[in-house]
Amino acid sequence: MKVGIDAISFYTSPYYLDLKELAKVRNVDYDKYAIGIGQEKMAVAAPNEDVVTLAAHAAERLRTQVDFSQIDFLIFATETGIDQSKAAGIYVHHLLGLSSHCRVLECKQACYSTTGALQLALSRLKEFPDSKILLVASDIARYPLESPAEPTQGCGAVAMILSTNPRVMSIDRESGYFTQDVMDFWRPNHMREALVDGHQSTKIYLTLLEKTWDQYSEASGRNFLDHDHYCFHLPFSRMADKAHVRLAKSCGVLEPSGGHIEKTKVYARDMGNAYTASLYISLLSLLNLTQKDLQGKRVGFYSYGSGSVAEFFSGVIEKGYRDASFAQEHETMLKKREAISYETYEMYRGFDPYNEEMTAPTDSYFQFVGIEKEKRLYRKEHN
Ligand code: CAA
Repeated sequence: MKVGIDAISFYTSPYYLDLKELAKVRNVDYDKYAIGIGQEKMAVAAPNEDVVTLAAHAAERLRTQVDFSQIDFLIFATETGIDQSKAAGIYVHHLLGLSSHCRVLECKQACYSTTGALQLALSRLKEFPDSKILLVASDIARYPLESPAEPTQGCGAVAMILSTNPRVMSIDRESGYFTQDVMDFWRPNHMREALVDGHQSTKIYLTLLEKTWDQYSEASGRNFLDHDHYCFHLPFSRMADKAHVRLAKSCGVLEPSGGHIEKTKVYARDMGNAYTASLYISLLSLLNLTQKDLQGKRVGFYSYGSGSVAEFFSGVIEKGYRDASFAQEHETMLKKREAISYETYEMYRGFDPYNEEMTAPTDSYFQFVGIEKEKRLYRKEHN
């Protein structure tokens, strides 16, 4: 029985800061951003957006392909938690009008949690093959102003329906996983911005790539060239180049084809890091932007979550992937976005809903409208 992704969509803020503008303000050579880290734009969440509204938008798009009344489990992966107790997924469950007979949980382990949740969900599907699981991953990447990590910020969400007989991708059984207690990136409860040792995090990312690959490769019997494409977690798009070369080299392949990863990086370059959603947005980038038919192609996935847990796994693209991965809608969404000034970027990222009057610059369908008596309030526009 095949299990995997039956439909998948992503969403990002309608606003972005062009990194040419940031380079000017920071007095940095733009090539460092465009070439050195491989980033051109950074999606910036407006005051009336948060992980709930981003996730609800990503999931809403799936409604045209999936009967929402059948969803019996909603898992929300994030490292931009909005509450210590209540799962962000409950707000999404409400905004989407899902059945009350639906479990809701929030998952955390930095950028890895979506993959951990995916694996747990797939095991459940093997026992309950009629189940339909909505997995959403949503984050706003925020680092201190003027820090080296600043140009890698971004925001976005991915939503996928997991089921048996999936139309987009069946996930292979074998995987390799690895946990190591390190302080490469973390965000204490009282802080809005992540702390990161950037160079150490990159090193650990690559070390764990080899360790997870070794276990995966031994379990599956597959080698480097058995995969047509590779999706790597993308904190910035150039990370894929580093990971691809490192993995190829450790497998004895000296000149790996750039075609393995070229299309997987395009969306990330255009919007920045979306933490838990990034790996799966790179899959969408591959599916949406590749002209030739991808049916039957095997993709290797590397998921890395600082702290740290990593996993290498793979999947095979199924024949219905074009209908259930929304290429046209994603292209339109990205084209319609608006560039904001550096001043607006600072204002949006610094917005404090506890102490500032809400400004609502977007007329997005799902909106965060503020906090009253410590309760978060959301609105669904009726158009
Ligand atoms: N033209 C072209 N290239 C240039 C350049 C120029 N003018 N100036 C510098 N470069 C190149 C450098 O040579 C370097 O290339 P290599 O990586 O090949 O050596 C690259 O640009 C970056 O330059 P620096 O190393 O000097 O950059 P930095 O120290 O200022 O910041 C960073 C880079 C450490 C990645 C920083 O952006 C950061 O801290 N990012 C956040 C942490 C992160 O993303 N870690 C990744 C692994 S952890 C993870 O994956 C989880 C997650 O999502 C966060």
